[in-house]
Amino acid sequence: MTLYIGVDIGGTKVLAGEVLPDGTVGRTARRSTPGRHVEVTLVEDALTEAVLEVADGRRIDAVGLAAAGFVDATGERVMFAPHLPWRMDPTRARLEARWGVPVALDNDANCAARAEYSFGVARGYTDVVMITLGTGIGGSLILNRTLLRGQNGMAGEFGHMQVVPNGQACECGGTGCWEQYCSGNALARFARAHLDSRDTVLDEACGGDPRALTGPMVTDAAKQGDAVALEAFASVGGWLGVGVANLVAAFDPEMVVIGGGVSAAGDLLLGPARRALAESLVGAGHRDIPPLLHARFGPEAGIIGAADLARTEAVRPIFRR
Ligand code: BGC
Ligand code: NA
Ligand code: ZN
Repeated sequence: MTLYIGVDIGGTKVLAGEVLPDGTVGRTARRSTPGRHVEVTLVEDALTEAVLEVADGRRIDAVGLAAAGFVDATGERVMFAPHLPWRMDPTRARLEARWGVPVALDNDANCAARAEYSFGVARGYTDVVMITLGTGIGGSLILNRTLLRGQNGMAGEFGHMQVVPNGQACECGGTGCWEQYCSGNALARFARAHLDSRDTVLDEACGGDPRALTGPMVTDAAKQGDAVALEAFASVGGWLGVGVANLVAAFDPEMVVIGGGVSAAGDLLLGPARRALAESLVGAGHRDIPPLLHARFGPEAGIIGAADLARTEAVRPIFRR
């Protein structure tokens, strides 16, 4: 039996999982991400624990890393990560040395797109925009069946396109970035701003401490019909539709796939997003509007794509660097 492990390293959590050749996920393990102002070795310790838990004493064939950051064109280093401490960090080689197994590395959203293109909703398509919504926004672009990497390997950083001049400060150092209005963090910020003035189950969910409020709490509350949580989704969904309209104007894809943890909210998010897309897309009355689809794999897309990368780096030319 071979053992390929995918590891998704996001702004708040690490998810590792065994992935079979057909994309099926086996045993998984989770750790929380130690934060963005810590030593890189602490992040590596969390990854190591999660990988060892999944392996459970078995020999590992290779590990693929889906990192929430800007991975260089050769897949060696994480050059920058708004939500994590990596700065020009030779992540791939260091973890390969630490674990003694082959390691492959790519951006988390690129891995998610790889999963959806290889096994999920984008299978068989030619031009696909992928958006992952978690702590931030991840992006990936498949054009003419090729994953677009760009000069530095950093294409697809849609979350840091400025949508509000002088807007919210972003962890990347900029202001008004799209992910400040459309992400798990944005959901929590919206809800926080309404805690005092409104009657909402979120008061109890966060134990009276607004700082403790998280995106998943808002999702749970929205599913129970809580008005503040539903408005948070209407706001984030609206921003999703506007941003997607801009990407559709630029690339005219066949479909836009929405994944990541926040997408687990389903049509609570995609309903408002579809309306905003139809309202703000240029030439909307005179073109086919691409469908806005749920990713097949949601929060597991990153590990599926990363493990596939580790397994097939050499034989899947569309993703080749
Ligand atoms: C980072 C991306 C990452 C995304 C999702 C963004 O803030 O810049 O590299 O793909 O978050 O994790
Ligand atoms: Na990307
Ligand atoms: Zn930013």
